[in-house]
Amino acid sequence: MRDFLKRLPKAELHLHIEGTLEPELMMALAERNGVSLPYASEDEVRAAYDFEDLQSFLDLYYQGMSVLRTERDFHDLAMDYFQRAHAEGVVHVELHVDPQAHLARGVCLETVMEGLGQARRRAERELDMSTALIMAFLRDRPAEEAMRLLERAEPYWEILDAVGLDSAELGHPPAKFAEVFQRARALGLPRVAHAGEEGPPEYIREALDVLDVCRVDHGVRCLEDPELVARLREQGTVLTVCPLSNLRLKVVERLDDHPLPELLKSGLNLTLNSDDPAYFGGGMLENFEACQRAFDWSRGTFIDLARNAIDAAFMSETRRTELL
Ligand code: ADE
Ligand code: ZN
Repeated sequence: MRDFLKRLPKAELHLHIEGTLEPELMMALAERNGVSLPYASEDEVRAAYDFEDLQSFLDLYYQGMSVLRTERDFHDLAMDYFQRAHAEGVVHVELHVDPQAHLARGVCLETVMEGLGQARRRAERELDMSTALIMAFLRDRPAEEAMRLLERAEPYWEILDAVGLDSAELGHPPAKFAEVFQRARALGLPRVAHAGEEGPPEYIREALDVLDVCRVDHGVRCLEDPELVARLREQGTVLTVCPLSNLRLKVVERLDDHPLPELLKSGLNLTLNSDDPAYFGGGMLENFEACQRAFDWSRGTFIDLARNAIDAAFMSETRRTELL
């Protein structure tokens, strides 16, 4: 089965590029840039990854990315990930990036975008991998700041495939970003948002009604609201589910308790994703394999899930045809 899952062409729709920072690269970049970290070794970094919830992860995630300073750092970060993903049979990656987290540290938008752009072009050339870029707004920071970022990103509007919404969910409902997403819509930018990871089903409704998103990142808490489930099914809205992330952030106690089988039974349009693979114990292949162990799904189920992702991906029709 591992061989089959590895060979299956997989598209990843929910990945935070800053969440691909492996301890080895974190330590190397800390050294290269003279950034001090509260860890003496890679093992100490790994030992710190014992999360209670989303916030306890985010604290380390923002700390970890402090080593990213130059265009080359962002290039190396993304290229390292593309190579690992390629080795796992990933053919298309959609990366969320969190510019506000870098701007707040004095790293400018151009540094981030140019570094990632170089890696994306190399991945296409050298790995035959397509990629898409989702610029995410941090929902635990003011909406005005998100709007400023959107305007500041004008030189990059052309290369953005979508805008997204991430970071600490509880207490930061999607409606807070109504105007920002309205502006993105007016610019012709597709929209996605994290909702229903830790937050209630109402946040998923708001993401649909107020932000007009075409996909919901996570969305697993929709099951608490049968009417919402019916709506998601009828609309065919894609949920980008991240099993190992949900396990490590204690959205579920054990993978066997994960709502994926029930979401599937409800006829929802599901995809499997890694979210922050360096922090949650594995990339796409590990997520697929963990589901195989927990749910004993058939090959057909994995083929369907992989196909859902390719169908919903931000990619050219030529590329989609090539992959299907
Ligand atoms: N940023 C990075 N990973 C995230 C997650 N799982 N949820 C919300 N924001 C994030
Ligand atoms: Zn995420």
